[in-house]
Amino acid sequence: MTIGILTSGGDAPGMNAAIRAIVRAGLYHGWRVVGINRGYVGLMSGDTREMTSTSVSEIIGRGGTILYTARSEEMMSLGGQARAAANCREMGLDALIVIGGDGSFRGARALADLGIPVIGVPGTIDLDIPCTDYTIGFDTAVNTAMEAIDKIRDTSSSHERCSIVEVMGRSAGYIALYCAISTGAEDVLMPERWHGDEQELIRNVLERRNLGKKHSLIINAEGVGHSEELAKKIEAATGVESRATILGYLQRGGSPTCRDRIMATLMGGRAVDLIAEGKLNRVVAYRKDGIVDYEIHEALEMKKEMGNVLYSMMPMLRQ
Ligand code: F6P
Repeated sequence: MTIGILTSGGDAPGMNAAIRAIVRAGLYHGWRVVGINRGYVGLMSGDTREMTSTSVSEIIGRGGTILYTARSEEMMSLGGQARAAANCREMGLDALIVIGGDGSFRGARALADLGIPVIGVPGTIDLDIPCTDYTIGFDTAVNTAMEAIDKIRDTSSSHERCSIVEVMGRSAGYIALYCAISTGAEDVLMPERWHGDEQELIRNVLERRNLGKKHSLIINAEGVGHSEELAKKIEAATGVESRATILGYLQRGGSPTCRDRIMATLMGGRAVDLIAEGKLNRVVAYRKDGIVDYEIHEALEMKKEMGNVLYSMMPMLRQ
């Protein structure tokens, strides 16, 4: 039995912990484990390495992915998918485990349709995969962003400024919402809820000044964007000095938190169990009862609905 493993799309802290769990669990079953470098790009060029127990030593606490990652345009084309499937056959892969986000799962689904058995493991800081309530990397990313925002708050408060901090998340606002609640921000803008009413934001900043607050902190999701522009508009309308900070890639790096190491280990372990049980073409997921799995087509058709509990607390907390 030979299994392949790759990481694809944006890297996420905890991917290494998942790789480690998969390699060790695979070897435990007596299988051969092949690491594919640079995601689907490496799959198409046949860029592989043999995974041994020692090749995953001392990586559980390391951010990034030792297998490297890439976004592959080619994997979106039928030709690219056929080439990737042909290489899986040539490598003698009995199954391929793909650690990544929704885009990576779509690549895996295409391979499944071409007869290559696949398992998806959700890894992205964005928490935007509909079939799962947790994705590897989210906890580390929000903790990293939270600490950075706490620091921005210190200087913003000393200068009595308004700070707009833009966080990652692509078109999802989970990182923004968690950061806003955990840093005590006054406002949060997220693609799922943003109404486009800048006047309301401006009114909120002025209200807080009138209440005697010395600074304002607004968390903006990258899916809403225009942070610099917003800062200028707020400053012009309120007279409050305003600054935008875009946190950027620092949110994707760093040593994974305990939660990410545990979730990655559980999810990686389940991926190998599924193969051992002959349950193929599935995506590992997390729901409130623990680790579950879904058929890959079914998983990719699910829609995500952001809960309202945290968001609905914002007006009360900003007082
Ligand atoms: O999906 C993770 C993520 O960091 C998103 O939050 C962001 O929109 C995107 O990746 C950035 O991608 P890239 O590394 O290709 O610039």
